[in-house]
Amino acid sequence: IQRSFSSSVVRNVVIKNVTIIGGGQMGAGIAQVAASTGHSVTLVDMTDDILKKAMKGIQGSLRRVVKKKFSDDPESGDDFIQKVMQNVSTTTNPAAAVTTSDLVVEAIVENMKIKQDLFGFLDKMAPEHTIFASNTSSLPISDMASATSRPDRCGGLHFFNPVPMMKLVEVVATSSTSPETSESLLNFTKALGKTPVCCKDTPGFIVNRLLVPYMMEALRLHERGHGSKEDIDIAMKLGAGYPMGPFELSDYVGLDTIKFITDGWREKEPDNPLFAPSDLLNKLVAEGKLGKKSLEGFYKYS
Ligand code: CAA
Ligand code: NAD
Repeated sequence: IQRSFSSSVVRNVVIKNVTIIGGGQMGAGIAQVAASTGHSVTLVDMTDDILKKAMKGIQGSLRRVVKKKFSDDPESGDDFIQKVMQNVSTTTNPAAAVTTSDLVVEAIVENMKIKQDLFGFLDKMAPEHTIFASNTSSLPISDMASATSRPDRCGGLHFFNPVPMMKLVEVVATSSTSPETSESLLNFTKALGKTPVCCKDTPGFIVNRLLVPYMMEALRLHERGHGSKEDIDIAMKLGAGYPMGPFELSDYVGLDTIKFITDGWREKEPDNPLFAPSDLLNKLVAEGKLGKKSLEGFYKYS
């Protein structure tokens, strides 16, 4: 680890040891990509069972990556998977996990209070140089940073689902994020083989501010009876070149996540028609039909 010190603030941390909190679909993907690019990763979640499932998911995803990358040499592919898996350790104890961390990335439930509690707690446990980043889809990073004594070393690292395939990472700076922290985060995303874009700490950053209203518009169009889910999906795939239609994508992202994002934005801008609620979305979420992860959303999955 190369660090240069200036008074008590650590500059330009080269990120080697990464702690990911939350081993769900995003956290596991981030852990996989960081481990695949030679970082030492500790994945944290609430139970050993969840962590086991996350490790199984990482292995399954690595197999898909390797099938392409090492198509001529399956043995090297197996070696690669083994090496990557050795770079990941798991624990249910976040306090212990952060003591040697250069970077903490939280990818837990999209709830400000829970994220603030986590950052506030870890702030007391992590070394001074450790950068705290959030993978939030929609919440202000500055509100999370305010729960710590290190707002200059807090920022956003917003990954996209599925993390191993999506090349973009939004690197979010608040008004308190130091230029050194931003630079470390930008360098980290490049070390992951991703392409970063710089974002302000505004609702939805760039991608979600455009993508979520589009998905909600598709829902409203369907609710008005102006198109079936299937036809809208086909239309956007074949007519606009999207890899997934809006209903397929909503199921893929998680209907609870989409609902949470729009509910939060509506609280702040109640009159903005882009953030208007959808009865169908509310009904599906209330029924526990959250999309692909619960095997049913707009569509059924087996
Ligand atoms: N891990 C590893 N490899 C994967 C993978 C994963 N999770 N998912 C797909 N792949 C690779 C595999 O090589 C796969 O081939 P196999 O099935 O033989 O393993 C190959 O991609 C093709 O996959 P599929 O046949 O399943 O489908 P596809 O060609 O449509 O590609 C996709 C899948 C990359 C997900 C593509 O459909 C896509 O880009 N969809 C849009 C995703 C998107 O918009 N994501 C952003 C969501 S918004 C967000 O994330 C932000 C937020 O805050 C909510
Ligand atoms: P998920 O439900 O799949 O995973 C969340 C994980 O966090 C679960 O395994 C849960 O057990 C764990 N968790 C919850 N509270 C915890 C705590 N206090 N300590 C440790 N672990 C805890 O959710 P996800 O889809 O991976 O989303 C995670 C975050 O990433 C959210 O902030 C979400 O908005 C954001 N995000 C989601 C997507 C997406 O497409 N789903 C894309 C980008 C960003």
